[in-house]
Amino acid sequence: MPHEPLAFFNGRLVPLKEANVNIATHAFNYGTGVFEGLRAYWNPAQRELYLVQPGPHYERLWRSSRVLHIDIPYRVEELIEWTVELLRANRFEEDVYIRPLAYKADMAIKVGLSGIKSAFAMYAVPMGDYVSTRGIRVQVSSWRRIADNMIPSRAKVTGAYVNAALSSEQAKMDGYDEAILLTDGGQVAEASSSNLFMVRRGVLVTPPVTEDILEGITRDLVMEVARDHDIPVVERPIDRTELYSADELFLCGTGVQLAAVVEVDRRPVGAGEAGPITRTLQDAYMALVRGEAPRYRRYVVPVYGRQ
Ligand SMILES: Cc1ncc(COP(=O)(O)O)c(C=O)c1O
Repeated sequence: MPHEPLAFFNGRLVPLKEANVNIATHAFNYGTGVFEGLRAYWNPAQRELYLVQPGPHYERLWRSSRVLHIDIPYRVEELIEWTVELLRANRFEEDVYIRPLAYKADMAIKVGLSGIKSAFAMYAVPMGDYVSTRGIRVQVSSWRRIADNMIPSRAKVTGAYVNAALSSEQAKMDGYDEAILLTDGGQVAEASSSNLFMVRRGVLVTPPVTEDILEGITRDLVMEVARDHDIPVVERPIDRTELYSADELFLCGTGVQLAAVVEVDRRPVGAGEAGPITRTLQDAYMALVRGEAPRYRRYVVPVYGRQ
């Protein structure tokens, strides 16, 4: 990125350093924003940048915004167009993470949601692997996942990520790579910023969307790819100690991609290394996001339109 990074702010592209909000902004004071995290992958052989699943990400942003009474002044198609525009303007030729935000933008000391102006902004930064995909060690956190009637996990609310930050920080301070959070009822929900899958006796198992998880876009993709590989998939509640007897375990999300978990609470998972189903799905996912899987081509958008 040899030139000045650009952001989308107040309806146009501006230098990122000029895309600033006032300290009195409602979202800054109360966490009243919703956001997304998308990735675009650089394919060096094709000299093409592939934006992954923009439609589902922006549909989720819309659903999140409804929970917080935030108005987004763009339709999903327009949001996708602006994202492509932003990536092109930044002339990225590397893997990129994109962060759209819709937030309560008025300068107002008011704990509420109605009558407060909304705004939309977006920026993008180069990003490689966020965590190691080969084998991470996780801790079941003593922090619980925020429940649907507290701050809904289904909506990607900025303020809710304090819950993620507390658990992830604790895990790192205790010498682990990541945290797994249980619901208030004690079932497995998800990791601090990714969904979780377990393999037991050849079946891929993940908690249902009613277990206080973010309804992950990668999670949906993993289930589809698994079924296409004739791997049975079940959505059901998972007990904490099932994690200790799982044959395989992995986290998935736009940021973490597919990360094999090799240890939970100091107990090895399976053989203590990424298992065969995890590796199969990892390979399929990475081919998909780089635009190398014709079967899943509809899930990626070529940014430069060279393909
Ligand atoms: C709490 C949480 N769960 C799950 C995910 C995975 O969602 P997605 O696959 O849509 O990126 C994320 C975001 O990446 C997240 O922040």
